[in-house]
Amino acid sequence: MVSILGISAFYHDSAACLVVDGEIVAAAQEERFTRVKHDHNFPLNAVRYCLSEAKLHANNLDYVGFYDKPLLKFDRLLETYLDYAPAGFSSFLKALPLWMKEKLWMPDLIRTELGKVDGEEDERAAKKLGKKFEWKLLFGDHHESHAASAFYPSPFEEAAILTIDGVGEWATSSIGAGKGNEITLLKELRFPNSLGLLYSAFTYYTGFRVNSGEYKVMGLAPYGEPKYVSVIKDKLLEVRDDGSLKMNHEYFSYSQGLRMTNHAFDKLLGGHPRKPESRITQREMDLARSIQVITEEVMLKMTKYAHQETGMSKLCMAGGVALNCVANGRVLREVPFEDIWIQPAAGDAGGALGIALAIWHRYLGNARVSSEKMEKWQSARAPRTNGVAPYADAMKGSYLGPRHSEAEIETFLQSRQLPYRKYSRKDLPEVIANLLAAGKIIGLHQGRMEFGPRALGARSIIGDPRSPEMQAVMNLKIKYRESFRPFAPSVLREQVADWFDLNADSPYMLLVADVVESRRRKMTVEEEALWGIDKLNVKRSEIPAVTHVDYSARIQTVRHETNPLYWEIIEAFQQKTGCPVVVNTSFNVRGEPIVCTPEDSYRCFMRTEMDYLVLETCILDKNDQPTLEENTDWKTQFKLD
Ligand SMILES: [Fe+2]
Repeated sequence: MVSILGISAFYHDSAACLVVDGEIVAAAQEERFTRVKHDHNFPLNAVRYCLSEAKLHANNLDYVGFYDKPLLKFDRLLETYLDYAPAGFSSFLKALPLWMKEKLWMPDLIRTELGKVDGEEDERAAKKLGKKFEWKLLFGDHHESHAASAFYPSPFEEAAILTIDGVGEWATSSIGAGKGNEITLLKELRFPNSLGLLYSAFTYYTGFRVNSGEYKVMGLAPYGEPKYVSVIKDKLLEVRDDGSLKMNHEYFSYSQGLRMTNHAFDKLLGGHPRKPESRITQREMDLARSIQVITEEVMLKMTKYAHQETGMSKLCMAGGVALNCVANGRVLREVPFEDIWIQPAAGDAGGALGIALAIWHRYLGNARVSSEKMEKWQSARAPRTNGVAPYADAMKGSYLGPRHSEAEIETFLQSRQLPYRKYSRKDLPEVIANLLAAGKIIGLHQGRMEFGPRALGARSIIGDPRSPEMQAVMNLKIKYRESFRPFAPSVLREQVADWFDLNADSPYMLLVADVVESRRRKMTVEEEALWGIDKLNVKRSEIPAVTHVDYSARIQTVRHETNPLYWEIIEAFQQKTGCPVVVNTSFNVRGEPIVCTPEDSYRCFMRTEMDYLVLETCILDKNDQPTLEENTDWKTQFKLD
């Protein structure tokens, strides 16, 4: 048995992943345990959880992999700061102590931290223990880790690979090819030219938090006009035919300091950055639309180029920018790849999974049997579930986190004397579907927690998408956030094409497609004339809560084999209402990491206006619950994103 632990840490979204004999056994982000969003510290809790899933101790591991090369990153920082000296010197000095203390001494640090895994709290004792570990420590290249996370778990035997993010060591994007267990990187774009950092610059400029508010910019884009595209292209950057960028660094300051843009940028775009939490105006919407248009153009060019260069018919993607599901939808429709697969933990958390699989396949040379190949072998016997061909990648639906048994849940509920009703597994889907059809909003906690930023029906809040008020209610009374974003639909895989312009799997909510014409409702002239966000409250389709103002939706397709209970709930809802779609949003409030334990779920349920909480087979009615006593105002606990 070969056990490999992958780790990503110290930048953004720390995570751990355990691979045993090539199988992904567990993966989780540290934020879910510490309750600190995007926690960047060493993922001690995530490591503990991963090892417990396989009943291993830290000294049973054979390999530990870290997702990038700290020395190369340091080299990049040093060179960049020197290039821009003295402008960059102050931020260099600020960053230096952390580098000296932690990042450059990574091997020692990792050994010491893993010395704490089995409960050793004393730093010196942990260090001593760490030194005794016999596993081998390996470091991967940042974009190689992303590429490995994109290709190895994909269903494809061979595929082109595209990785795009802010920056790793030097690369900001790379194109490669995967075949069997081999990955070859063909080309890379280097810092400071970066699509991810460009998008982040506009995230900052429109008043959202960098490395976390990017999806808000994407959500805002449909309200705007692409007014700034020409000035961006004239002054800020050049987009070449292969999708590579040449950015004009007179306008950006991320190389020198901690701000993304500078005064020249403000002057060019006619004003200061929006103050976070201040009113969003048409200007931010136009800026969002403009940068989204450019991003789509770049991604289409990059993927077309990857298609040309590799001659392959499938595409895999990872890196933070691969979470831009609007651009991904266009790639699927407009680039001549037959199929695309995107790593659900596309950001840096997925690097932990990438490095672990890279050690298994590349370093140790173990063969890889893709599910595509397996299917060919089994095609004669493979059952077609409800008329849809089987689909399988190695991610297990991304349900790779902790599960809490019914016994654990009942112990928790009884110890707190919380009233609940227990149902049989057989009756459960119908009970939940009836509540949904009655307009109730339900916190759903069941099965293993998702790995990656999206809730996929294991830690989700669900509701009826047909209700015109559902969107506003969920946004204001549950998520406590701006109401400009519609929610995502979870739809039965078998029915997706009846409701959306998509006839493919989108298991990780990473593709956007339109609601089909026949289910749309045309807006009246008065409704069309409504200003930006007001438009969102107009009923635009049979499923208004999940239909954006441009009729698009961020789709999750659900299969019985990957999430049986979730599929059965939606199916029961369809039996009742004729609609095979539910609203799915992550189980958290704004700024809070997605819930992990039954306790997290209960707390979030009680702090918001959710009506029911499902903990495996136990259902809690809000009306029956005692008041939640809290000493502090929880709304101040989470940093807004
Ligand atoms: Fe990255």
